[in-house]
Amino acid sequence: MSTPILIDLQQPPVISELYIGHDLIQGDFLIYLCKKYGNKIAIIVDNSLKKLYGTELSKKLSAQLFEIPDGEKGKTREIKQMVEDQMLKAGFGRDTVVIGLGGGATTDLAGFVASTYLRGVPLILIPTSLLAMVDAAIGGKTAVDTSYGKNLIGSFYHPKAIVSDLSTLKTLPENEKINGFAEIIKMGLIFDSEILTFVKNSHSFDVLVTRASKAKIAIVTQDPFDKGLRRILNFGHTIGHALEAISNFTLSHGEAVAIGCIAESYLSVQLGFLSEQQFSQIEMVCKDMFSSAALPNTYERKKLIQSMAFDKKKSVEGIRFVLIDQIGHAIPFNGEYCRAVKEEDLESTLSYMEQNYA
Ligand SMILES: NC(=O)c1ccc[n+]([C@@H]2O[C@H](COP(=O)([O-])OP(=O)(O)OC[C@H]3O[C@@H](n4cnc5c(N)ncnc54)[C@H](O)[C@@H]3O)[C@@H](O)[C@H]2O)c1
Ligand SMILES: [Zn+2]
Repeated sequence: MSTPILIDLQQPPVISELYIGHDLIQGDFLIYLCKKYGNKIAIIVDNSLKKLYGTELSKKLSAQLFEIPDGEKGKTREIKQMVEDQMLKAGFGRDTVVIGLGGGATTDLAGFVASTYLRGVPLILIPTSLLAMVDAAIGGKTAVDTSYGKNLIGSFYHPKAIVSDLSTLKTLPENEKINGFAEIIKMGLIFDSEILTFVKNSHSFDVLVTRASKAKIAIVTQDPFDKGLRRILNFGHTIGHALEAISNFTLSHGEAVAIGCIAESYLSVQLGFLSEQQFSQIEMVCKDMFSSAALPNTYERKKLIQSMAFDKKKSVEGIRFVLIDQIGHAIPFNGEYCRAVKEEDLESTLSYMEQNYA
């Protein structure tokens, strides 16, 4: 055997361009951006956003619209196939740029379409919900849901550019904003303590979206394929996801994650990692932001613990949690970024939550 030659392949950059600003989809900015990547433009957009922004944008860009149902209903294999067939029929070739315009459900679907259409065509994401701007559009995870679970089929595929137009948030319903705020606070707890200060002092989207987007980019750049550090993004979600499930999804993702963040911060105190004083600060910010956050009336401790058993971080030692030792810092635990927790510690945390958030 000859000595193998090691060719040093450069890692592709996680994201090429991220723009945050106001009225970005109104001016000519997107025309120039799209020209960099292709000739024919396919805009994937849901019913609501088509009316609000899609039709006008398609005229400006001389693009064709591909309309999908709102929310999770648009994030299925059937809808993906429908869009692909429509694009093929319309003759979209390798010079295509796919634009995903909308919330996280649309950016996930559009990303998946772009990643497999003719084996991959350039993708530009225009997230319009707070959650999509700070979370879903960043990091290259694309997906559709299946009857076996959410996000089970998908790919890692990074957009060429992300354009977060803060002006679009004016039309975002208040209850949808909560979902984004919960992820922003989470980002403050695990990575950038200043975010919490900004949340306390002002709710300016300019600052919060920029800070939280930068935090997510920093995390995914260090862990592009979800092998380690990215796990910290799951903070508040181990309990949060289980709460959502036992509430039969009557609790929104944001409310569930907000309660999850309080509970998992309390757990960090319980295990001696986080000071009580910092916990009080976290609780104050969360209570201020999510005044109605409470355990769902379907809550039963046993049901919650059972539901957590489906958590993807679960190991032979039990349910594992991302924990923090100060605001803005998740504990590395030798590169695992999570740790199994004894049942009695979890029970004490749940007792606290039952006493204070029932
Ligand atoms: N890929 C990832 O890394 C990642 C990360 C987090 C979440 N997600 C996914 O994101 C999805 C949730 O995203 P979401 O919270 O944005 O929900 P969504 O995409 O379902 O949008 C929620 C609703 O808000 C509407 N909407 C969005 N922007 C609007 C605007 N500016 N004005 C008026 N209405 C607007 C949409 O039409 C929809 O009805 C889930 O499917 C989740 O799995 C993906
Ligand atoms: Zn989340």
